[in-house]
Amino acid sequence: MQKLIVGNLKMNLLTVAERDRYLESFERELKNLPEHQTEIVLCPPAVHLEKFVEKLKLKNVFVGAQNIFWEERGSFTGEISALMVKNVGCSHVIIGHSERRKYFAENDEAINFKIRAALKDGLTPIVCVGESKEEREIGDTARVISQQVNQALVEVPISRITEIVFAYEPIWAVGSDVTPTSDDILEVKITIKKLLVEKYGVSDVEKVRVLYGGSVNSKNVSQVCLQPQLDGVLVGRESLIPVEFLKIVSLIDAN
Ligand code: 13P
Repeated sequence: MQKLIVGNLKMNLLTVAERDRYLESFERELKNLPEHQTEIVLCPPAVHLEKFVEKLKLKNVFVGAQNIFWEERGSFTGEISALMVKNVGCSHVIIGHSERRKYFAENDEAINFKIRAALKDGLTPIVCVGESKEEREIGDTARVISQQVNQALVEVPISRITEIVFAYEPIWAVGSDVTPTSDDILEVKITIKKLLVEKYGVSDVEKVRVLYGGSVNSKNVSQVCLQPQLDGVLVGRESLIPVEFLKIVSLIDAN
């Protein structure tokens, strides 16, 4: 299956000039990889979505939002709907990132509503799941992940489950410099796939991609992504440096 790399730019690129410099640098570096095999998605802050789409649409790079609200329109001050994101040309949306769970008290129910809204309006949801350090230490990882996946899938039709991308982002690895082993990542991937087959009866479960996210860089990408069984990565800090981000792409491509 085609591997997928997602860049989560988080709350960065503070000025129009900074955004433009980023895009220029990204386009320049991308010229070295015109035939990349890896699917690339960039998720900038909402104020930059339109510009990113304008600059990258014809370059085989997809653009996604970092969050949406589940309602489509109306009196929800400060929110952005899936349809609005779709209508400016985006194709993906990150849902349930651990920073949203932590700072905005997003719970599994809200995440489920957002996933359903994304699917309804034709966006690919990139759904983040992951355990805390304490949960890992007491051997609770599989239970926590299964619970998050189960809650994410409430009332999602089985026929649409393969459209969802899951991103395994252990909370202890995000923004740190530690990463799990490839075996740890594969174990979580197997937990998710087994659940999808055994509980939901998904027959084409090989189509569901499970990414890894948390301190990914060009030095550790072989550990977290290059095995044939691993599907791709969700990159934070390193996506802010186009040359580094695209180095990760080229390493995945070369594999
Ligand atoms: P870092 O790559 O900076 O650890 O962030 C990971 C992340 O949160 C991606 O969504």
